[in-house]
Amino acid sequence: MTNQLILANANVVLENEVIRGAVTVTDGVITAIDQGDTVAPGAEDMAGDLLCPGLIELHTDNLERHIQPRPKVDWPHAAAIVAHDAELSGIGITTVFDAMRVGSIPSGKGRYLKYARSLSKELWGLREAGALRISHYLHLRAEVCSETLEEEMAEFGPDDRVGIVSLMDHTPGQRQFRDISKLKAYVMGKNNMSEDDFADHVANLKDMRDRNGARHEAVAVAEAKRYGAVLASHDDTTGDHVATSSRYGIRLAEFPTTVEAARACYDHGIAVMMGAPNLIRGGSHSGNVAAGELAELDLLDIVSSDYVPAALLSSALLLGDMWGNIARGIATVTKAPADASGLTDRGRIALGERADMIRVARIGGAPVLRGTWVQGKRVA
Ligand SMILES: [Fe+2]
Repeated sequence: MTNQLILANANVVLENEVIRGAVTVTDGVITAIDQGDTVAPGAEDMAGDLLCPGLIELHTDNLERHIQPRPKVDWPHAAAIVAHDAELSGIGITTVFDAMRVGSIPSGKGRYLKYARSLSKELWGLREAGALRISHYLHLRAEVCSETLEEEMAEFGPDDRVGIVSLMDHTPGQRQFRDISKLKAYVMGKNNMSEDDFADHVANLKDMRDRNGARHEAVAVAEAKRYGAVLASHDDTTGDHVATSSRYGIRLAEFPTTVEAARACYDHGIAVMMGAPNLIRGGSHSGNVAAGELAELDLLDIVSSDYVPAALLSSALLLGDMWGNIARGIATVTKAPADASGLTDRGRIALGERADMIRVARIGGAPVLRGTWVQGKRVA
């Protein structure tokens, strides 16, 4: 027996326009899009709300926040994963690339321990058991300035749903932390360090970068290929950084930190992704380029919620208002991230696509989510 769903009387956000009409879903796939108001029996009345593709999030630390709700608190992982999944479904995200760092620093005051392999096994266990509402992939954040990148990446393979590998280099004095005072405030606060501890920490990181950097970059590029994952750059700051990214075959740039880098990405055909919190707050917490400025310069393709999941939908609507084009705003969190991550079955309301959709009302300036469907099944 076929399973049919009709979402009618909606303002349907298509790839390039918004139309008044109805979307029909059959067995989890979009099978009809009809203009005009419908009174088909069994149709659900969307009452003029927006019907958008489900949001696609390429980079979020949200799972880490559920695992560690306070410093030094390790929350039971299964419960944390289920809560994270439910939270995302409730704010319109239907596909997520859970960001997990690989490459650790096993000792010292600025130490950072390995966790991605064991946490991802727990995530996939729950997925196979049918405990999750939305579609999950991994985004492995390969930290070049670390000690253990090679062995950590070797533990993953093509069956691990690694969709994205990003090449990160958080060595002090460059890229995100060009301004070392921003790093100081962040690291000293987080790790309870003294001035001397911080100076040792910086020297240690620079030494680590000198010893391991070039080898780690090559390893991450090769491993991404082995997994079948898309490679992304992170915090590109100069034209030279972008040229290097391009040589690695990178087509997605996370959070370029300057207008110069964003422009170079456009010249090299690299999609530019910026953080939603940066857009909403009107600037970057690390003192880098404002996402809104890039949007005004037409140098922004994709928005990621980064550390505030609910900012994704708000940002897309904000961009839609800024550009005077809601479909274009919504595409930054649907079609554009699908294209950049190589997902060909979702990201648009179009015939034959996965029926991942959300119903959104705009009340008092805030988007209010009124329904989330994944493959035609209501999940929130
Ligand atoms: Fe960064």
